[in-house]
Amino acid sequence: MLARRSFLRMVGGSAGLLVAAPALVGLGAGAHSRWAGRDPFSLGVASGSPASDGFVLWTRLAPDPLSADPDLPGGIEMARGDIDIIYEIATDPAMREIVRRGTATAEAAFAHSVHLEVGGLASNRPYWYRFTSGEASSRIGCARTAPAAGAPLDQLRFGFVSCSNYEEGYFSAYRHLADENPDLVFFLGDYIYEYVNPYDRVRAHSDEVEARTLPTYRNRYAQYRLDADLQRLHAVAPSLVTWDDHEIQNDYGGEWSENFDEPDVFLERRSAGYRAFYEHMPLRPSLSRPKGERMRIYDRFAYGDLAEFSLIDGRQYRSRAACYIPPDGGGFHMENDESCPERRDRTRTMLGMPQEAWLYKGLAQSKTRWNVIAQNMMMAEFAEEQKGGDLRFSTDDWNGYPESRARLLRQIEKSRVANPVVLSGDMHSFWTNDLKLDPAAPVIATEFITSSITSGCAPDYYERHLQHNPHVRFMESQKRGYASVDLTPERMTTRYQAVSDVHDPNATVATLETFVIENGRAGAVGA
Ligand SMILES: [Fe+2]
Repeated sequence: MLARRSFLRMVGGSAGLLVAAPALVGLGAGAHSRWAGRDPFSLGVASGSPASDGFVLWTRLAPDPLSADPDLPGGIEMARGDIDIIYEIATDPAMREIVRRGTATAEAAFAHSVHLEVGGLASNRPYWYRFTSGEASSRIGCARTAPAAGAPLDQLRFGFVSCSNYEEGYFSAYRHLADENPDLVFFLGDYIYEYVNPYDRVRAHSDEVEARTLPTYRNRYAQYRLDADLQRLHAVAPSLVTWDDHEIQNDYGGEWSENFDEPDVFLERRSAGYRAFYEHMPLRPSLSRPKGERMRIYDRFAYGDLAEFSLIDGRQYRSRAACYIPPDGGGFHMENDESCPERRDRTRTMLGMPQEAWLYKGLAQSKTRWNVIAQNMMMAEFAEEQKGGDLRFSTDDWNGYPESRARLLRQIEKSRVANPVVLSGDMHSFWTNDLKLDPAAPVIATEFITSSITSGCAPDYYERHLQHNPHVRFMESQKRGYASVDLTPERMTTRYQAVSDVHDPNATVATLETFVIENGRAGAVGA
């Protein structure tokens, strides 16, 4: 039997409600499926969590993707329960050589999303996949398995991206990265924006409300996933995802909101945001299925003997922002040692102590040539001159957690991990930074920060502080785009790719700057 027919039945006409007799749910061959001309795969497909023998395949059934009815996420009644669909995996892009076919479950509790963990495949090769339900078929996506642990690998190409505000522009940067056919793509946060900005926008968040509940977060992800450029990027390569603040709320940290909500109140909002993130990302259910307001997304991925990637979570476990005092001391404010000694408290942490321990252990045990930490916010120290001349630091990025940062850098130094590199987002600007324990100390690691896909950055916002930060080797704040890395045993070559205009859906792309790190030599050099 090529495909088990599923059991959906469309009735109800004008409201477009999908209703099926509960007794039919789970029926197999012979049951008829009709989506009444609507595409249940409107949100596309994605793969993630690449291992040497498999990956996660994702889709979400959403025949009415922007349905605002909380009981009908994606246009499907929650009460319908889980829906089985068919998946197929092939060794060729035309899906002629099918090597795996089976049933995947779209879970009602997670807005009928599918998170299928696939194993038993060959290492280090592409596979193509699709989902079907009745007469409906998804687009074909490409996933890749990683090489076996320790196996020789000569080259790897990956992209990293952050900060795609739908209202501020078109996602041409995603399209151009997809054109590069990367082996994998890192999404480093601000994948959605929770707020609505009625000014200076090229297209609107469709519901015109700030996302703060499960239905409104779901609506936001669904709208972003309808974007053709983003959908294609997810279809061409595995996605590795972490988050920053705007997946939930601007500048939140741990259980503390930027506007001093009681933690109990804020954690309800966080639960909704985390759950919607899970529902739309190709995360391993065995690791990441949300438990109330908690959800583990930090993970490690190895690519043969060439690279190990630690993908970390810089929002969920952090200590409360230093000097978190109403009315001005929310998540983000500017402090220094005199104004706020708490910032230097050694018990404070950016990652939470368990994640710190997990990260340090992984770095110490790694045997790969390159060791990449992919995460949400700038790690380098950045002193900003205030009115009156004193230098202060943001409390919202790693500058708000200097002892946590020093612990990480000391661990990197002590464990002599090979070729450490940090990838970051959030800044809406391209940066190349030396990471050091103090200005006179040697370079411990290099940080590359990608600019935003669309989100803006005020002119001269960072430029005027550069004189105080000689460890910043490069900074460009007025270009949007993505970063692309070609990795070999000998060198890491990082290209900053800038799009011509985020207001133009057909924007072109050009290389803004290229940096090279040679094996064994800390510090990036312009190429
Ligand atoms: Fe952002």
